[in-house]
Amino acid sequence: MLEMQDVHVYRGQTHVLKGVDLHIEQGELVALIGANGAGKTTLLRAVSGLLRPRQGQIMFSDHDMEPASTHRLSVEKIVTMGISHCPEGRQVFSAMTVRENLLLGAFNRTDTQEVQQDMQRMIQLFPVLGQRQNQAAGSLSGGEQMMLALSRALMAKPRLLLLDEPSLGLAPLVVNAIFDLLAQLNAEGMTILLVEQNAGMALELASRAYVLELGHIVLAGTGGELSSNERVREIYLGGAA
Ligand SMILES: Nc1ncnc2c1ncn2[C@@H]1O[C@H](COP(=O)(O)OP(=O)(O)O)[C@@H](O)[C@H]1O
Ligand SMILES: [Mg+2]
Repeated sequence: MLEMQDVHVYRGQTHVLKGVDLHIEQGELVALIGANGAGKTTLLRAVSGLLRPRQGQIMFSDHDMEPASTHRLSVEKIVTMGISHCPEGRQVFSAMTVRENLLLGAFNRTDTQEVQQDMQRMIQLFPVLGQRQNQAAGSLSGGEQMMLALSRALMAKPRLLLLDEPSLGLAPLVVNAIFDLLAQLNAEGMTILLVEQNAGMALELASRAYVLELGHIVLAGTGGELSSNERVREIYLGGAA
């Protein structure tokens, strides 16, 4: 479904991604782990079209996302192709209401009835979003904003969901709810690329995972393989025995 080949991305003068190869098959839940500054957010932003690779190729469902022509695909086009990105740091539109944020997530859809149904589903999943639907998103707590950001990404009904550190700074109960939801969405067929600082939980959930260090993929394998890898245990799982 997604294939990155020798992808190089710069941010300003900094060479951040240094030849990344990564692939995701339809229906997989793949985790990407790595220390702060490794380039995880940069990688997601390249997939969703927010950053342009200087070299290499990103293919989604056999479409080249960076055609050789001068017509670069817009972020809107990429959303319509089926990629939805839940960004780092719960970026919601704070002045807009919860409901408006959710509807904005569905901007690319014309199936209004289903949009309403999905809206109801999000509210069932996260009842607080229903209770607060007419309040400004900025008035929600950090955890609630994360639920909203995730729900908004889901409202696009993506085929590939990109998630950037959904558990960051959240209470364990909320983290568990989010991980349960990801497992459920994946079981329903959604393909997911999960960036997570909680490597233990991510490796448990993922069918496969990659380790990114300083812009290079240094390890890849099944969740189980990586959880038992010495280097991963030492660096990312806190040396857990
Ligand atoms: N807007 C930016 N301008 C210049 N450098 C940046 C910018 N954003 C991130 N970087 C650099 O890119 C590298 C990777 O950042 P990032 O992709 O955010 O890593 P991660 O998500 O793994 O923590 C870091 O060295 C960071 O300093
Ligand atoms: Mg990041």
